[in-house]
Amino acid sequence: MTKFSVDELVNSFSLDNVQLKRIADLFIKEAESGLENDGQPMTMIPTYVTAIPSGNEKGTLLAVDLGGTNFRVCSVNLNGDGTFGIVQSRVAISNELMVGTSNALFGFLAQQVKKFLKQHHEDHFAEDKGPEHVLKLGFTFSFPVNQTAINRGTLIRWTKGFDVKDAVGKDVCQLLQEQLDKLKLKVHVAALVNDTVGTLMSRAYCSPGKQETQMGVILGTGTNCAYVENLNAVTKIGAETVLKLSESSPMMIINTEWGSFDKGCLTIGQTLFDSILDSETLNKGYHMFEKHVSGMFLGELLRLALVELHTKCDFFASQHSDALFKPWKLDTSALSFIEADTSTDLDETEKFLLASLHLTSTLAERKSIKLVVDAIGKRSAHLAGAVIGALLLHTQSFEKMPQVDVGVDGSVFKFYPGYEKYIRESLRVVVGEQNEKRVAIGLAEDGSGVGAALCALVA
Ligand code: GLC
Repeated sequence: MTKFSVDELVNSFSLDNVQLKRIADLFIKEAESGLENDGQPMTMIPTYVTAIPSGNEKGTLLAVDLGGTNFRVCSVNLNGDGTFGIVQSRVAISNELMVGTSNALFGFLAQQVKKFLKQHHEDHFAEDKGPEHVLKLGFTFSFPVNQTAINRGTLIRWTKGFDVKDAVGKDVCQLLQEQLDKLKLKVHVAALVNDTVGTLMSRAYCSPGKQETQMGVILGTGTNCAYVENLNAVTKIGAETVLKLSESSPMMIINTEWGSFDKGCLTIGQTLFDSILDSETLNKGYHMFEKHVSGMFLGELLRLALVELHTKCDFFASQHSDALFKPWKLDTSALSFIEADTSTDLDETEKFLLASLHLTSTLAERKSIKLVVDAIGKRSAHLAGAVIGALLLHTQSFEKMPQVDVGVDGSVFKFYPGYEKYIRESLRVVVGEQNEKRVAIGLAEDGSGVGAALCALVA
């Protein structure tokens, strides 16, 4: 392969400043139309959460979390001083459950809650307990739902490899409550929580008084963001509801579902690899932004780029690897790993390619592969930074407060070396250098556990 074509491949992932600004402009437009009308590309889901924690919240609550490959049950003790204690258990969701029936899936979830209570809250099963002992549960369900109350929401569509067809259009809180009731558990599903909302809530609870948390962002298996919106801007819920809610609060947290931003890839672009990847997914043509950004997809983008380098450009010459041609063979950790390899001969990368794809490589090949990895990771972070910036412009946060706080969670943000630096590069392009310095970006602690508990408490 000539140097020029490696450059071409790498460049196909890069976004210049003009593109980043176009992305931000379109994002603001889509966000605004999502707040005004139903059925828009970006759903902008009203969450009916109208208060941000102060840090003084107190109580013991249950939280369950379904959003990726694991299901988690937690009991959270909020101490009322910005700290918390948590006991939890985690179990993998099998592939059969991910694409089976809602009865099977939600029945399984309820069983896990029962198991957890037996182990950690044996007192829950005592005969003499009255209704005051019903445990409130926050249900972190990280898929697009049409939320109509704090604990009501019908599933719009599945993402991230789930496809339980008969659950679409149903109220997921009710599906869980029915199964809990079948097991005679004294548990009330009090709040339906997207992981981004939990992230925002937990970040605000854990940093009381320090700064104003405006956003909760997930950069993990999937990507999404929730933020604090002025209630008057959420016109699609109707003037009457706005009026009623505004008696107690001027704001509401909105779950943007930004994974579905720019469905037609008009501004975010679409490389050859993006198109092939999309064709391999269960939700073809949907959540295109997410497919450019989040952890579930970055490994596959890299694999597809490696296939191209192998078949068209003679990389790994005269070797054959079945693994290389196996869709979804690589996950994001492959990129984090190669990005982190700073050895002169890229020895770690060599070992990695050998172990995961059974391929030997030359140093020149590994250097090119590292460039490709960096390009894929950088594009992901640049896209995230551009839309974070767009949302901050939309909310006029820089006019309203001296420092803006963004809570983030997710494996891509946590483990991809230099990810925040890249986020800041594009954020700077969109909001300007001075404003970028006023944005604090920090890890949120366990949004889907603590944040869900907080939502159940305020519900
Ligand atoms: C997907 C889901 C969204 C969730 C995100 C992060 O985009 O649709 O609800 O917040 O993944 O887990």
